[in-house]
Amino acid sequence: RDRSLPRLVSVDSTLSFLREGYDFVSRRCDRLGTDGFRTRIMLRPVTCLRGPAAARAFYVPGRLSRRGAMPGGVLALLQDKGSVQTLDGVAHRCRRLLFLSLMADERLRMARQMLREEWQAASSGWRAREIVLADEVGPILTRVALRWCGIDPAENAPQRRCEELTAMISCAARIGPGHLRARALRRRAEVWAREQIRAARSGAPDPGTPLDRVARYRGPDGIALPREVASVELLNLLRPIVAVGRYIVFSAHAMVNHPEARAALVSEEVGLRAWGDEVRRLYPFFPVIGGRVIEPFSHEGHRFAPGDWLLLDLYGSNRHPSAWSEAGRFDPRRHLGAPATTGGFVPQGGGSMRIGHRCPGEALTAALLSEATALLLESGFDAPPQDLSIPRTAIPPWPASGLRLRL
Ligand code: HEM
Repeated sequence: RDRSLPRLVSVDSTLSFLREGYDFVSRRCDRLGTDGFRTRIMLRPVTCLRGPAAARAFYVPGRLSRRGAMPGGVLALLQDKGSVQTLDGVAHRCRRLLFLSLMADERLRMARQMLREEWQAASSGWRAREIVLADEVGPILTRVALRWCGIDPAENAPQRRCEELTAMISCAARIGPGHLRARALRRRAEVWAREQIRAARSGAPDPGTPLDRVARYRGPDGIALPREVASVELLNLLRPIVAVGRYIVFSAHAMVNHPEARAALVSEEVGLRAWGDEVRRLYPFFPVIGGRVIEPFSHEGHRFAPGDWLLLDLYGSNRHPSAWSEAGRFDPRRHLGAPATTGGFVPQGGGSMRIGHRCPGEALTAALLSEATALLLESGFDAPPQDLSIPRTAIPPWPASGLRLRL
């Protein structure tokens, strides 16, 4: 067995990882002059890798499972038992097709339209006061998520749903009371989601809506999903749509922080998609993604055996110097041409969209982010002096001020 990847001297890196968050892998790689090292997290041996070559190796179909690859707390709030991400092989490919089939152009247009409507309804009260954008996006996106899935917000306590969905995102990487509270809210959301599935199966939901499709989905064995699993998948649609709110706040943050790039957006030298891609590339969201080896493979001379645990540094790979020049600089123009290399843009995972675990909601994320960026531009907002720093440790963080805006 090849053991040549450097091993950290510390016995266990769990606390360093929690303390250093997004910088944990890159700092150590920079110090060691490598793109990977071995250590222990929660006393379990793990190999941390970064960079485009590592991302390409990580995303070769069939190599890695997501089962047993994330700490239990993250699993409970973000994936949960029986979800698409915990599947492998044929069962995974079939379930994944369900998610991909929901991303047709028509459904992306609907999402944009719903966001525009909900934003305009919410923003009618914004002219008279200063707003904190981080507080406003959750309720707006919760209503969008419910409507897009075919669920009437008026009958489904959107404030409660917003509280549950935002807690799952904020507290996945936390330990202690915040995490336990989010677990309780997640259980409450599951009870609600199971009732949605039950009602959809016994009634007649709008045909073709995500709720209808998830409720009626049959796997390769021809059997409908157990109600608990179907409700987990419904939450797997609702929660990440609300999570797009972070990128919307980051987009506004970039407009304030990078006036020259904003001018290029206003003059249409760069389009909304390129702007959104640069926001997704540089701003912090998922620091790493875990995988457990199913098929043995070698990467740059290192052999990985079945059962080995890997963490791919998504944040560090997005700003790796072998993929981007002046990698830390915010410049949407870099997305105007064809990408220089694959594996250097992995904010939502990488590899094939059809197979593998890359986020199937990437097109929806990009569509919502484009629409929100257009709405922000149209609003002609102004940002008073404030603390625009982004804490390096919260996973995922908000800008310190929450982004105060005057419209
Ligand atoms: C998977 C990020 C939005 C649905 C993932 C993965 C990441 C990610 C990093 C894991 C990739 C892997 O395991 O290799 C994000 C971010 C989002 C976002 C940062 C925006 C804030 C969405 C949206 C949806 C969605 C809008 C759907 C409505 C999923 C699903 C999976 C997934 C179902 C599991 C896919 C599988 O295992 O095959 N996402 N995502 N995500 N995402 Fe997203």
